[in-house]
Amino acid sequence: MYGLNGRKLLLTGGATGIGRRIATRLAEEGCDIGIVDMNVVEAEATADLVEKAGCRCTVYQANVGDYDAVSGAVQAFLRDHGHIDVLANNAGVISLGKVEDVSVEEWRRVFNVNVEGVFYFCKAAVPHLRTRKAGRIVNTASWYGKIGKPHYSAYCASKFAVIGLTQSLAMELAPLGINVNAVCPGTIVETGMRDEADKRSIQEGVPTAKQREAQIPIGRVGLPEDIARAVAFLASDEAAYMTGQAINVTGGLWMH
Ligand SMILES: NC(=O)c1ccc[n+]([C@@H]2O[C@H](COP(=O)([O-])OP(=O)(O)OC[C@H]3O[C@@H](n4cnc5c(N)ncnc54)[C@H](O)[C@@H]3O)[C@@H](O)[C@H]2O)c1
Repeated sequence: MYGLNGRKLLLTGGATGIGRRIATRLAEEGCDIGIVDMNVVEAEATADLVEKAGCRCTVYQANVGDYDAVSGAVQAFLRDHGHIDVLANNAGVISLGKVEDVSVEEWRRVFNVNVEGVFYFCKAAVPHLRTRKAGRIVNTASWYGKIGKPHYSAYCASKFAVIGLTQSLAMELAPLGINVNAVCPGTIVETGMRDEADKRSIQEGVPTAKQREAQIPIGRVGLPEDIARAVAFLASDEAAYMTGQAINVTGGLWMH
């Protein structure tokens, strides 16, 4: 356990997959949570799990790629919970296709959610964190934010951007004791994105998660739980001397 009892977590993309497990893992730690997601039905199901663990959970239906909606969700969370201890920017979308086949609209969709979504939440929440001179931000990037891969140009470029934003903001906020880090998942199964990526991988003729499992040094694909544990650590005082880091949680698939 990481001493997070009573902390207030604002989490994006908490309806399914990694985000749902971040919510339940931090609820096990005793955090009250606000979930921002488009998928309100699954977000409410996550909220039920959080409440079963004895914590408060509120759901805000919003598109992270819409600044007015993001700003409204942050204000609603502050009204409901009082303050933000941890902002976890986890919502994201995947896209596959060779560069010449990616439409301009598709490229913009990926950047709107994966990059602008993180920027918008930081922009809306940082003034509050500055006033309190406290807080943690944990962004979900990817090991694809550290190396380009064929058929993943939009996704890779968006996750490189998340790491760049993480580093810049970390330097801006470090003097205030506010830490900003990213977690970089490897091949994580049992998520909506993985199902979508596997379907598209078959169409594109690139390997699926299971087909890549043999390349993972630890010998298995990852689970949402593996990422949630790292987020809990980065959200805690145990990570007080870490900022601007992009932590790989890949089973050894990537080591830089
Ligand atoms: N699964 C993997 O292998 C893997 C690997 C590396 C990084 N990631 C990252 O992990 C994060 C979570 O993905 P996941 O694998 O759990 O997939 P997922 O599809 O299960 O979760 C994504 C969540 O984001 C929400 N979301 C998507 N677009 C949104 C929008 N515009 N506004 C609000 N909410 C939105 C979805 O409703 C969902 O709840 C993503 O940032 C993803 O890029 C996943």
